[in-house]
Amino acid sequence: MRMPSSSSRRAHARIAAAGALLAVAACSSGGRTESTEAVLPARSSLESAFASAFTVGAAVNDNQFTGRDARGAALISAQFNTITPENVLKWEHVHPRRGEYDFGPGDAYVDFGTKNGMTIIGHTLVWHSQTPAWVFQDSAGKPLTRDALLAVMRDHIHTVVGRYKGRIKGWDVVNEALNEDGSLRRSPWQRIIGDDYIVKAFEYAHEADPAAELYYNDYSLENAPKRDGAVRLIRQLQNAGVKVAAIGTQSHVKMDWPSPAQFDSTINAFAATGVKVNVTELDVDVLPRVTGGVSADVALRGNATASANPWPTALPDSVQTALARRYAEIFRVFVAHHDVIDRITFWGVGDADSWLNDWPVRGRTSYPLLFDRNDQPKPAFDSVMATARMLRATPITP
Ligand code: GLA
Repeated sequence: MRMPSSSSRRAHARIAAAGALLAVAACSSGGRTESTEAVLPARSSLESAFASAFTVGAAVNDNQFTGRDARGAALISAQFNTITPENVLKWEHVHPRRGEYDFGPGDAYVDFGTKNGMTIIGHTLVWHSQTPAWVFQDSAGKPLTRDALLAVMRDHIHTVVGRYKGRIKGWDVVNEALNEDGSLRRSPWQRIIGDDYIVKAFEYAHEADPAAELYYNDYSLENAPKRDGAVRLIRQLQNAGVKVAAIGTQSHVKMDWPSPAQFDSTINAFAATGVKVNVTELDVDVLPRVTGGVSADVALRGNATASANPWPTALPDSVQTALARRYAEIFRVFVAHHDVIDRITFWGVGDADSWLNDWPVRGRTSYPLLFDRNDQPKPAFDSVMATARMLRATPITP
């Protein structure tokens, strides 16, 4: 049996110690409690609380970065030091038609991050979703050849990455290339170009901005088959001479999935390949599961029954408390692994803007984030902040 590495043993010890330390904070009753407040560090923003460990960010929408949502914009600049564009740099928005780029929103996004001194992330260059059909077809609607699709991909990557060269620190180059079993997804990219489309995308991105960090990003990576597939993919990329700076684990998670041990194994497995680990799209879905699994595949849909939307007006205290505990449990693992984690990004800021209000069922009232529908901190915010105490309890080891 393979023994856990010393860094993994250290991480386990830190998780256990911090669990005891935080029990008082996270187990206090519903709502924001006095005991939680009492043990909070004298730091009020996520970015400063975790400054010695990793950057903390959020996916932002155009209302926020243009200032139309002034309250949201203020909250983002107060709490976070890194941002990811929820939609505006996806292919269908930035390159909607052949030969036509729309950089207005992308420029506003990058300007917002620059103005606020934030680490600006690019999302995403090559994905099967939110990519127009024309990308894969010629003007007569026939599927492109491998060479023609590579030329389209190269033009897109060079144009988009090139425009923000030196301003966007890192790119999700390829998003969601793997199936749940760890095999390569039969996306149009894979079918037309072949398995090396991933290597090509990374090569083009590197040509366009040699200093940019390049990431592979996916969901369900906490499950062993997909985690193993991602490790194989990273090793293949490395063997092909591609420099992958980090794996992004989206971590659209549930109340009961994944377990802390699953998070732990995934972080260790990725760290063993020599790349950093970024948590790129964190949210915790408290609503009933309607798709029969834990996959965050955007194509999944569930039935809009009344039982699928149990809390249309407010989250009961008991669930609020359970969510706070769940976030503390998750952050204990992240903090314990701060030596390999560069960034934690939430997929949204306040609950009102979360994609989980419309996926996998439209029109539900979802509560997955740290800030409520009025952008006020929830008990989960306090419990996450309290995990930063681990950083003081256990000094950072080189
Ligand atoms: C995936 C993508 C994101 C986003 C979410 C849902 O995780 O990577 O860009 O579309 O789905 O919003």
